[in-house]
Amino acid sequence: MTEKDLLYDTILARSFSKNEQKRLGYGAFIASLLFVFTLCTVFKPYLSPLPIVELQIPMNAGLRMLRITETQKQQASGSSDNATSGDSENLVLPNDQINITSNATTPQSITSSKDHELSAGNDTSLPKNMFNSTTNSTIAEEHVTTEGNKLEKTMKPICKKLARTEICEINGEVRVHGKSATIQAAITFAFSGNSTWHIKPFARKGDVAAMERVREWTVKLEQNAENANLSRCVRNHSVPAILFSLGGYSMNNFHDFTDIVIPLYTTARRFNGEVQFLVTNKNQPWINKFKGILKYLSNYELIYIDEEDETHCFSSVTVGLTRHREYYKELTIDPSDSEYSMSDFRKFLRDSYSLRNAAVRPLTTRRNQRRRPRMLILSRGRSRAFTNAGAIARAAKQIGFKVVVAEANADVAGFAQTVNSCDVMLGVHGAGLTNMVFLPENAVVVQILPIGGFEWLAKTDFEEPSKGMNLRYLEYKIAAEESTLLRRYGRDHEIVRDPSAVGKRGWEMFQSVYLVQQNVSVDINRFKPVLVKAFELVQMQSM
Ligand SMILES: *[C@@H]1O[C@H](CO)[C@@H](O)[C@H](O)[C@H]1NC(C)=O
Ligand SMILES: *[C@@H]1O[C@H](CO)[C@@H](O)[C@H](O)[C@H]1NC(C)=O
Ligand SMILES: *[C@@H]1O[C@H](CO)[C@@H](O)[C@H](O)[C@H]1NC(C)=O
Ligand SMILES: *[C@@H]1O[C@H](CO)[C@@H](O)[C@H](O)[C@H]1NC(C)=O
Ligand SMILES: *[C@@H]1O[C@H](CO)[C@@H](O)[C@H](O)[C@H]1NC(C)=O
Ligand SMILES: *[C@@H]1O[C@H](CO)[C@@H](O)[C@H](O)[C@H]1NC(C)=O
Ligand SMILES: *[C@@H]1O[C@H](CO)[C@@H](O)[C@H](O)[C@H]1NC(C)=O
Ligand SMILES: *[C@@H]1O[C@H](CO)[C@@H](O)[C@H](O)[C@H]1NC(C)=O
Ligand SMILES: *[C@@H]1O[C@H](CO)[C@@H](O)[C@H](O)[C@H]1NC(C)=O
Ligand SMILES: *[C@@H]1O[C@H](CO)[C@@H](O)[C@H](O)[C@H]1NC(C)=O
Repeated sequence: MTEKDLLYDTILARSFSKNEQKRLGYGAFIASLLFVFTLCTVFKPYLSPLPIVELQIPMNAGLRMLRITETQKQQASGSSDNATSGDSENLVLPNDQINITSNATTPQSITSSKDHELSAGNDTSLPKNMFNSTTNSTIAEEHVTTEGNKLEKTMKPICKKLARTEICEINGEVRVHGKSATIQAAITFAFSGNSTWHIKPFARKGDVAAMERVREWTVKLEQNAENANLSRCVRNHSVPAILFSLGGYSMNNFHDFTDIVIPLYTTARRFNGEVQFLVTNKNQPWINKFKGILKYLSNYELIYIDEEDETHCFSSVTVGLTRHREYYKELTIDPSDSEYSMSDFRKFLRDSYSLRNAAVRPLTTRRNQRRRPRMLILSRGRSRAFTNAGAIARAAKQIGFKVVVAEANADVAGFAQTVNSCDVMLGVHGAGLTNMVFLPENAVVVQILPIGGFEWLAKTDFEEPSKGMNLRYLEYKIAAEESTLLRRYGRDHEIVRDPSAVGKRGWEMFQSVYLVQQNVSVDINRFKPVLVKAFELVQMQSM
């Protein structure tokens, strides 16, 4: 098992401990699971079983057979009592902490209501109005200006809630005390709203399991600095700070990018390196994994702020990271929402990792020599593995590709080079496909879908993002014969016969998608047209 796998098994075990279930009651527990599942791709990393749940939940007889065989050792060793918040209501509805009594009425006042809207709309399993448009969830700075005779009052948000993140942008004398997770700001401007704000600085709001692993900070605005009991500045910094968490699902490649790297880029890039990173939820492996990116975004050694007992002072602090508004979108930047685009981000990655190819290279070199297009086959070690990667590679070679088979690992810089040198990347649905961010433009991504209802996730996590990166996308859904599930359960088993029907039943869908271990044995004859198509696309793109 890789380190990555271990991490997630442990998390899973913790999230759904026995106590947890007792507290929630099974109904609420299942409901919240389903909720989380439909909302996001939380359970992707969870390839290990939910043994307790499996025993307790009344399932139909067929599915009861879906006994999952992976080991339960993390369950035994890592269970904890207080991993999940206690009641199901909290799992669903974010509390509005702040009541503003605001007089401001100008159009640009406070956050635009869009910030609170849930924009992807058709999933009926979502509670309606989960993110109601409320000016009550903002602290805002009041600006009074006089234009001619007109007195105009505008509000600039200091703290705001967006669909997937919360963010505070505080200017003034800002004091950050790590041990108590407190940020005090002495301000001189008028503001409306409660002067205290609680915030978890991680851009996956609404995902309970992720947010549980994020430390909560308290922001306090102090209007009368002289009277306030402000802590003494021990370390004065001359540059602004950004405080963010490395909790959540970090160390899963997909989540690293969609929840941290991209939001960090859109938040920090404008400082051009002149920004101090304050990291809460220490995570040295993550820092090691992404040191190339961090170095590019900040010229200063990052500070693990949780351990700091000395007060750090700044003239400006951003708590939390920005993230686009659309709840369901992953691995993307909404240019209407950010000064940066996905192609800026990909250029930034190429700069950070010294990647040579912005776009697919021509297949004919200057000296009129032809090169073979390169195909990367992503292998996976434990689940959703290819049982016949060799045969796929041979077929691809016959068609004319040069083939590289590799498994993504924590050496981002090295793997980025490999990916960037390729024209086609092929893999079974999983976090490894996130490496598409390093592909040159016009390269081809081939996503292979196992059986069991991966369609929605496949589309949200990789198909749509690939289009936003100017990549070509091909998909191949395996037939039952190509899944190890057929051998295991037999043709008549429900999960083999009609996985999509299974998928419609909620909880079972959750199980069948991420918990049922299956490997993929691609039928080369059936698959060949996809390889040919990929070859043609590369020929076309590189002309
Ligand atoms: C429960 O939480 C408390 C404080 O948040 C912590 O000290 C304790 O270690 C946790 N218990 C377990 C079993 O993780
Ligand atoms: C916000 O207002 C509602 C009703 O207007 C009230 O019930 C609630 O306690 C208030 N919350 C806070 C934090 O003041
Ligand atoms: C709103 O305006 C009224 C009158 O202009 C003023 O008395 C009141 O204090 C204001 N409230 C806030 C919260 O600014
Ligand atoms: C919602 O459903 C309608 C009709 O069923 C469709 O036209 C629309 O594109 C869907 N919207 C989204 C965001 O899926
Ligand atoms: C959002 O507003 C609707 C009515 O406008 C209300 O029924 C619903 O309870 C609200 N939800 C939250 C989370 O406040
Ligand atoms: C905001 O809070 C005030 C009072 O605290 C309340 O009267 C008002 O209805 C709230 N607005 C919304 C949109 O919830
Ligand atoms: C501000 O919020 C805190 C809790 O977050 C609450 O105890 C306090 O009463 C609120 N103050 C005002 C003025 O609403
Ligand atoms: C000021 O804060 C310190 C600790 O932060 C505390 O020991 C002290 O009692 C406080 N003083 C007042 C007047 O609140
Ligand atoms: C930091 O700055 C404040 C005010 O600007 C000053 O009072 C304090 O002595 C400074 N602290 C250090 C350690 O330089
Ligand atoms: C899938 O393949 C991996 C690696 O060969 C193996 O360890 C695992 O047991 C296989 N799982 C299933 C369900 O066949």
